[in-house]
Amino acid sequence: MEDELIVTSDGSHTVLSAQFGESYHSRFGAVQESRHIFIDAALKFKALQQTRIKVLEMGFGTGLNALLTLLESRRKGFEIEYSSVEAYPISPEQARSLNFIDILQEPWLEAPFSKMHTGPWGQALSLDEHFVFTKWRSLFEEFAPPSQYDVIYFDAFAPAAQPELWELPLLGKMYDALLPGGVLTTYCAKGSVKRNLKSLGFTLESLEGPPGKREMTRATKG
Ligand SMILES: C[S@@+](CC[C@H](N)C(=O)[O-])C[C@H]1O[C@@H](n2cnc3c(N)ncnc32)[C@H](O)[C@@H]1O
Repeated sequence: MEDELIVTSDGSHTVLSAQFGESYHSRFGAVQESRHIFIDAALKFKALQQTRIKVLEMGFGTGLNALLTLLESRRKGFEIEYSSVEAYPISPEQARSLNFIDILQEPWLEAPFSKMHTGPWGQALSLDEHFVFTKWRSLFEEFAPPSQYDVIYFDAFAPAAQPELWELPLLGKMYDALLPGGVLTTYCAKGSVKRNLKSLGFTLESLEGPPGKREMTRATKG
């Protein structure tokens, strides 16, 4: 079976993974979901305190979170160092067929988005005046964060598909990878995941989810 490109309710594409049987984003709207959980609840929330922000993303996938962060950096002048981890990258053909840039109506994003997908692994690329991007090809389980971050976009597939990614070993690594006051957001609001986060020392907030999802989670390192 092959990955499938699907159109979500806000018109933006997402990928249905043949390997994991999961879609990369909500079918209720990929761009909408990404904005809600990562841009609004994490990036803009942190930007209330500081506008120089180091972001770590778990799961580069289609690159949508990275693209929206770049757009926000250009619009607001945020200084972003963006790092993303991915073990199973989509193909360059799949990346080219995604319609995010048409949906966003920001043609200048074409070149940096292409570089995100085709550029080298493990090398910092300056993709805009205030946006430096590095992607790491690694299993989350084996990734040793080379730095500490202000924000983590925790965007693994759901616990039902990959339970091991929501257990203490990986979540503890996320805790350690955050700077004090750093925030991690996820679409996941499952009780056992929230208990794991709490037991690591995170302070939790249950926030309203994006369309189609009642709740999401923001975890702050005290
Ligand atoms: C929900 S998708 C990420 C969506 C992505 N943030 C985006 O904007 O398109 C989860 C991603 O995690 C990757 N992945 C799954 N298991 C992994 C693992 N054990 N280590 C690293 N990456 C993994 C998948 O290939 C997929 O790209």
